[in-house]
Amino acid sequence: MARKHRIAVVPGDGIGKETTPEGLRVLDAAARRFGFELELTHYDWSCETYAKTGKMMPDDGLDQLRQSDAVFLGAVGWPGVPDNVSLWGLLIPMRRDFDQYISLRPCRLMPGVRSPLANRTPAEIDFVVVRENTEGEYSSSGGRMFRGTEREFVTQESVFTRTGCDRVMKYAFELAMKRPRKKLTSATKSNGITFTMPYWDERFAEMAKAYPEISTDQFHIDILCAHFVQHPDWFDVVVASNLFGDILSDLGPAVAGSIGIAPSANINPERKHPSMFEPVHGSAPDIAGKGVANPIAQIWSGALMLEHLGEHEAAAAVTDAIESLLSEGGPRTRDLGGNAGTLEVGKALAEVVGRG
Ligand code: NAI
Ligand code: MG
Repeated sequence: MARKHRIAVVPGDGIGKETTPEGLRVLDAAARRFGFELELTHYDWSCETYAKTGKMMPDDGLDQLRQSDAVFLGAVGWPGVPDNVSLWGLLIPMRRDFDQYISLRPCRLMPGVRSPLANRTPAEIDFVVVRENTEGEYSSSGGRMFRGTEREFVTQESVFTRTGCDRVMKYAFELAMKRPRKKLTSATKSNGITFTMPYWDERFAEMAKAYPEISTDQFHIDILCAHFVQHPDWFDVVVASNLFGDILSDLGPAVAGSIGIAPSANINPERKHPSMFEPVHGSAPDIAGKGVANPIAQIWSGALMLEHLGEHEAAAAVTDAIESLLSEGGPRTRDLGGNAGTLEVGKALAEVVGRG
């Protein structure tokens, strides 16, 4: 019997409704060629749902998703609904409840895509940012006292647990082991932040002992940002806390070119809960409904999903197809200087993946 994976599909808002079908088109081509089955369940949860019901998803929404092996998401957010409502009503509960403690963002300059950094070639920009996605600086521990008086103060505490540090670092080391360069960089700030960041460094050094094959280095977050721009070729896998990873995982895709191609994954490596795969971009209200959005970020996110589901060959076929489409002058959308539509690019990629 064919291997079967249960996928929850949440297109969400705006261009998510246009890119998700193209992602599914390519996934379907991969499934046919590599002999597995995708059992899809569609959910129309979005800002429209919110306008109708006052909620982004039903009360038992997470329980419905829990049945699936992975969630394939488009984008969430639309003018008229505050972004914190759409984010906290759908995306954040999923990341938290499903303990998706790894946020993964591959940053690769694809052939035929222009990086904002002058004269960089694809061989020089190919790294992955691994962000801790559940604790650290984004905690709910803190408060405000003496409100409205001279003595008013606020605190917000960072929370770094041994479990939290070790599991994200272990994931990053394991990922580095699978890549040819076998290099891992840690983002820190132990000169200015004197408890949590020295602890982060300590856990990193401890974990490194178990991976003698991996060469490691670390930089303070400020100079690390400068290095991403000036020396992207230094990096292979980069591991960071929630806040630093948030910054790096926007900067990384930016140096690799268009937001229209950047993929991401929110992963629960133990597979106790579904992981979620989504493009880095949002719902792009400025171009939504016009059929011009670049579907590659969505399609590449689908490749990350296949990788997670253990369909390694199929995942590689999808990224190879993206690479060849872009380098061989295949159809491309406006953001990449072409004039093709979303559908045309999706169909072209599905064709390449299906053909093999
Ligand atoms: P955005 O990523 O939606 O758009 C930024 C710019 O990039 C726009 O000019 C847009 O046209 C362009 N762009 C984005 N994706 C593209 C694609 N696939 N092809 C071609 N061009 C593309 O970010 P923005 O405008 O800040 O946010 C719009 C909405 O999306 C907001 O409600 C925001 O909260 C939400 N959002 C949701 C995210 C998610 O679901 N994870 C992530 C980022 C934003
Ligand atoms: Mg961000």
